[in-house]
Amino acid sequence: MVTPLERRHLLPQRMPRASRAGPARATFGAMTTSPLDLLARAVDLDARSPLAGSRERFTLPEGVVYLDGNSLGALPRAVPAVVADVVERQWGQRLIRSWNEADWWGAQTRVGDVVGRLVGAAPGQVVVTDSTSVNLFKAIVAAARLRPGRTVLLTDPDSFPTDLYVAQSAARVAGLEVRLATPDAAPDAIRALGPSLALAAYSQVDFRTGEKWDLVAITEAAHDVGALACWDLCHSAGAMVVDLDGARADFAVGCGYKYLNGGPGAPAYLYVAARHLDAFDQPLTGWHGHAHPFQMGATYEPAPGIDRARVGTPPLLSLLALEAALTAYDGVTPEQVRAQSLSLTGTFLDALDALGVDLPLATPREPERRGSQVSLRHPQAFAVVQALIARDVVGDFREPNLVRLGFAPLYVTHVDAVTAATHLRDVLAGREHERPGLAERSAVT
Ligand SMILES: Cc1ncc(COP(=O)(O)O)c(C=O)c1O
Repeated sequence: MVTPLERRHLLPQRMPRASRAGPARATFGAMTTSPLDLLARAVDLDARSPLAGSRERFTLPEGVVYLDGNSLGALPRAVPAVVADVVERQWGQRLIRSWNEADWWGAQTRVGDVVGRLVGAAPGQVVVTDSTSVNLFKAIVAAARLRPGRTVLLTDPDSFPTDLYVAQSAARVAGLEVRLATPDAAPDAIRALGPSLALAAYSQVDFRTGEKWDLVAITEAAHDVGALACWDLCHSAGAMVVDLDGARADFAVGCGYKYLNGGPGAPAYLYVAARHLDAFDQPLTGWHGHAHPFQMGATYEPAPGIDRARVGTPPLLSLLALEAALTAYDGVTPEQVRAQSLSLTGTFLDALDALGVDLPLATPREPERRGSQVSLRHPQAFAVVQALIARDVVGDFREPNLVRLGFAPLYVTHVDAVTAATHLRDVLAGREHERPGLAERSAVT
């Protein structure tokens, strides 16, 4: 049943004043399904979803359709109380004793094992530490040291910029040459490079288009020529099934603040396959990665296991916030998450079609090629995103022309998906993106 609240949500006449003057443009195809039919179907899908209750695990502002969990995840309800306890009791009352009493020392690997469950990693291979950028640097240099004599690092020219910047610097440090091949061309490029390839470093999901790449095929191709594979999981962990152990991936990195909901600046993680741990020789040899940190010796001796991937003192408030945030995934399987994600993006795409919104899609329509976002092209994409935000539909803009909408499976609903499509139709029909001032950019887009 469509409740009055949902009806109001879906069919708002809440159009920003300036836009009401603009004539609706007749550039939309015929509407084949009414908005109310779409909404009724969405309500039904939400009611039947195995993840129906998981939205309750989050605090979300009333009336906001939040489609930017692929940039900054929403606030899990479990977090504030844990952070308050960490600040007031663990820090405020117990002071330095909490390093042992609250096992602050073990938190990086303890939380690492929880992340491991979301990315198909058995315990002891994931550490939560540093940023994605720093972890990628560590992984690339360590990979080069595992493959001495090999000269090439292969990566995607369309990678998230930090991955390219880090690749360039890590390659210089490790004496590698960076070569570029898009993920679809990577297996052939890997075969052509053969024994000169040390490492193939790719993202599982493209941050711009949301296209999902073949982690298994690229990893296998790298292994076939004796090279290693490193994966950036920023846009996949927590939103789909990731099976690092099953794919025999060598390394992986990812951030804690997108689908893992760890909050702004949450620490990132690094996966090192168990078979590489003994030889994992990473370049940032800080005291938290030492075998005997409190002996305070003058010479570095790597800790056994994944602890050697640690560097310096971690940001404990953020780390423990992430630990609390990850409880939002308790009892939820990666398969359920993936099914929900595809159902949400599919519903959004169906709603766009039904409402006659015909912006070019940057995201593949085939479900098996989609991550958990939908990106649409528009020449004034930035202003379109701002106009949507003015209607409380929060997504983001990515250069050069992308309206990027992320569907975080734990808290975005099918009703949200239909509501967002309806607002997008209304923004475009009312040319709200042409309102003065909407093209002005802040520091963060
Ligand atoms: C694919 C990818 N890699 C890396 C990052 C960011 O890395 P860091 O955690 O170092 O800021 C992002 C951020 O959006 C990203 O999308």
